[in-house]
Amino acid sequence: MKKLLLIFVLIITAGIAFAVTQQSTPPAPEENTVSNKKILIAYFSWSGNTKTIAEKIQTLTGGELYEIVPETPYPTDREELTVTAAEEKEKNINPPIKNTVDIANYDVIFIGTPVWWYTMASPVRTFLTTNNFEDKTIIPFITHGGGGEYSITEEMGNFAKGAKLLSPAFVVHEAGNIETDDELKNWIDNLEF
Ligand SMILES: Cc1cc2nc3c(=O)[nH]c(=O)nc-3n(C[C@H](O)[C@H](O)[C@H](O)COP(=O)(O)O)c2cc1C
Repeated sequence: MKKLLLIFVLIITAGIAFAVTQQSTPPAPEENTVSNKKILIAYFSWSGNTKTIAEKIQTLTGGELYEIVPETPYPTDREELTVTAAEEKEKNINPPIKNTVDIANYDVIFIGTPVWWYTMASPVRTFLTTNNFEDKTIIPFITHGGGGEYSITEEMGNFAKGAKLLSPAFVVHEAGNIETDDELKNWIDNLEF
């Protein structure tokens, strides 16, 4: 009888121990903060504003950063840059990019550009037209000097053939202000990807 009681107590103890272990097992970590998709944050930035926003998106999403760097560096003088940028726009020049990224490794690609002459900066146009965006989700973010986004979101969708364009874009004056962090978080929380 004593033996039976001992076996009974052992079974109950083992059962409780098993239940406790199951409850305390932590959930598997997610690949990204906001989604289990692979995220790339591609951007071009001449004076740093778009880079600042790209880095904030990186922090919020856990994605990987990729800076689009043209083979030939732009002038460091703004007046000279303005002339170069106007010429590239007029002549529809897509300047070659120095560094590449294999976008096949990503599902969702944030694409950041400053506004140059009412449109995207030309290296971003190169990035969009020289990669295969089939089945990728692209999400634009745009920094400007006061003019807003113009038609850049739509243009990005047209250049990135086969991509699913997710909008609205995040549009911000220069590198933003004290409210930008909250606005970015809300924007990302409301994007469905
Ligand atoms: C060549 C050039 C053209 C620009 N054209 C415009 C424009 O058409 N509309 C506008 O609102 N801002 C314009 N800007 C301002 C930039 O879009 C703005 O300063 C942007 O935040 C710069 O981003 P970055 O620091 O990442 O280079 C222009 C700036 C440059 C250098």
